[in-house]
Amino acid sequence: MQYRRIGSTAVSVIGLGAMPLSIEGRPAEDRSFATVHAALDAGVTLIDTADSYHWHADEVGHNEQLIARALATYGGDTSGVLVATKGGRGRPGDGTWTVNGTPEHLKRACHASLKRLGTDAIGLYQLHKPDPQVPWAESLGALSDLLAEGSIRAAGISNVDTAQIREAHALLGDGLVSVQNRFSPEVQDSEPELRLCAELGIAFLPWSPLGGISRSSLDGPSALDGSRAPAYAAFHEVARERRVTPQQVCLAWLLALAPVVVPIPGSSRPETVRASAEAADLRLTEAEVARLTRSTVR
Ligand SMILES: NC(=O)c1ccc[n+]([C@@H]2O[C@H](COP(=O)([O-])OP(=O)(O)OC[C@H]3O[C@@H](n4cnc5c(N)ncnc54)[C@H](OP(=O)(O)O)[C@@H]3O)[C@@H](O)[C@H]2O)c1
Repeated sequence: MQYRRIGSTAVSVIGLGAMPLSIEGRPAEDRSFATVHAALDAGVTLIDTADSYHWHADEVGHNEQLIARALATYGGDTSGVLVATKGGRGRPGDGTWTVNGTPEHLKRACHASLKRLGTDAIGLYQLHKPDPQVPWAESLGALSDLLAEGSIRAAGISNVDTAQIREAHALLGDGLVSVQNRFSPEVQDSEPELRLCAELGIAFLPWSPLGGISRSSLDGPSALDGSRAPAYAAFHEVARERRVTPQQVCLAWLLALAPVVVPIPGSSRPETVRASAEAADLRLTEAEVARLTRSTVR
């Protein structure tokens, strides 16, 4: 495994996005545990979760509880694992996502996450999404208070623009260690945010790095059809040349974009988590990276 830093913590360069283990279409619990354990076996030391990763309205924190139990039943040393959770979103149970960035909600949510994760301080607490109804500085104030009271060791923000990153950096200083935005070969509108994170030394965690939960994004003929063709054809070519999978090429390409990048591919099977972890050791040449990047420009 290779490592990168999120703040002062070294984490595996490939994390586990745990969302698919708790939302619609989630696997049976034994497969979920097997997936988390396979990640740990493969050397993954970053697990991304959220209080809102659940399906039905009455199971807030499903994913956090699952991760806590998977870690407790692992049998090996999990002291080096960073569990990064989030607050500020909700799921009423009808498939939609709500947002609540009031300081009161964020603090209450964080304290509930602490209990579910069975820890006295959350290693990385991320504000899931800015709430348009709440001034950004007020939501950030909650993170600042949570840092000061010791409930969280480090703070992150998600789904943000460069102005919001700059404001958070000014307000939280070294307390702000990560930004989590959507980024994949197909969706690169967060390139300015990625570059700003590289400049400020803040970790950038691309979400849906493989194009999202539907595996058709990089698999099968659909990836070579229509509007997806320019984005993915080169990934398939390099995969064939290097005898790896297009998903592994995608993760290696993301890692090559900047030393602050730590992708968090979602997995619901041990096989995919193991394959993703292997991408940590796939070094693309500069020429390959340039060719892949060129292929994604439309
Ligand atoms: N901050 C936010 O607002 C936000 C939003 C969305 C997601 N996220 C986070 O980002 C994580 C990743 O995003 P995502 O789950 O939406 O999408 P993703 O990582 O782009 O794609 C997940 C899909 O890719 C498949 N997969 C994973 N590794 C693979 C591999 N090595 N080879 C082949 N297929 C592979 C998985 O299949 P299997 O299920 O069969 O394993 C799953 O269907 C989430 O789990 C969550 O933690 C954050």
